[in-house]
Amino acid sequence: MSIRLLKKVVSSNLKVSEEHFKEIINGAIDDYDLLKEVLDREDEAHVLIERESHAVVLVTRSLAKLIPVSINSKNPLDSVKDQDLRKYFKAVLDGTESMDVRDFSFGEGEIKTVRISYMPFMLKDREYIDIRFNDITETLKKEVKLRNSEALASMTTMAAGVAHEIKNPLAAMQIYTSLLRKAIASGKAEEKANGYIDIIEQETERLNEIAVDFLFAVKPMQVDLKMDSLNDIIMELSDFIAVEAATKNIRITLHLDKFLPTLMLDRKLLRRALLNIINNSFYAMKNGGELIIEDKEDGNYVKLLVIDNGCGMSEETKKRIFEPYYTTKAESGTGLGLTTVLKIINAHQGEISLDSQLGVGTCFTFKFPIPKSQRKSLDRKE
Ligand SMILES: Nc1ncnc2c1ncn2[C@@H]1O[C@H](COP(=O)(O)OP(=O)(O)OP(=O)(O)O)[C@@H](O)[C@H]1O
Ligand SMILES: [Mg+2]
Repeated sequence: MSIRLLKKVVSSNLKVSEEHFKEIINGAIDDYDLLKEVLDREDEAHVLIERESHAVVLVTRSLAKLIPVSINSKNPLDSVKDQDLRKYFKAVLDGTESMDVRDFSFGEGEIKTVRISYMPFMLKDREYIDIRFNDITETLKKEVKLRNSEALASMTTMAAGVAHEIKNPLAAMQIYTSLLRKAIASGKAEEKANGYIDIIEQETERLNEIAVDFLFAVKPMQVDLKMDSLNDIIMELSDFIAVEAATKNIRITLHLDKFLPTLMLDRKLLRRALLNIINNSFYAMKNGGELIIEDKEDGNYVKLLVIDNGCGMSEETKKRIFEPYYTTKAESGTGLGLTTVLKIINAHQGEISLDSQLGVGTCFTFKFPIPKSQRKSLDRKE
């Protein structure tokens, strides 16, 4: 490779004839062209920018196929008309973009979706940003098909669940209306009617709750992600549950990382998810116990652990907990708690894992991605 030879000549001040030097330079140019050709042939397009000067160092040919740009201009990103894309590039260069990956759609007739990600790296004390573009239109079409069939399957489970859930309140309402009719007919309405009506009202409320829970589980969720402190949310929750914990003889222990980076969170939704998890733990610790909530930085993620030493789960339960309407709580559970949790964590691009042993306890682990702007170290490649 002539590039290597050129480096050697430059670094060691080797004396070479002008002729020979020209040869080496031409060889190095050929090497560059060859490498560029390899990159140009890739479906994934790259734009390489030097952070400080905003100078575009490299653009690969497939970029023009993916986003509407003029590849001949000095700075192709300047020729982008799409407002959202312009905003995105500005945020990436300013270091304020918080999402690792974003999808953008273009086109009037056939709409194309391009997934754009970026990767900052250091080379010889300069920071570069490699912005990558991938056409994911076909992949998305396949995913939609798959999701449609999955949605249909889960709708069937849901529908069966709802039918099962509403049966009990409806049966109770039927019984108490007929008792009420009998009481009126036998002139005992004054004595009995109020009690019967109370029960009918409670069952109506129960039906309403089932409808609200069901709608939350099936409707697309509105998420409002903002930079927020996970520790604050946990401390607020811990205050909120303190009284109930004390009456249930449950000790709450927090191990919170003081230097935790801020995360993109929807405070209201995350609170709701964590309350579901904590309520499950409280229920599992019928005779008291300890609830440990711990968070810590782990690579590009923040890990959050919620640990109880309650009854634990059987293998069968472990497999089914995220199924809508799966519950082992005969009368008191709807079985939508963890379905909701999963939905909320997915909306945060997070992950959930579970460790549980019968008679020992349960640990839920959540992983939330740390926004790039909050990560401590850049990938250093010298
Ligand atoms: N910390 C835990 N310890 C033991 N079992 C648990 C724990 N968390 C969840 N489970 C099991 O998972 C099941 C499903 O939980 P999920 O929260 O989805 O529904 P639920 O608690 O039964 O009802 P609800 O809709 O009122 O939350 C529970 O019925 C229980 O068997
Ligand atoms: Mg629950």
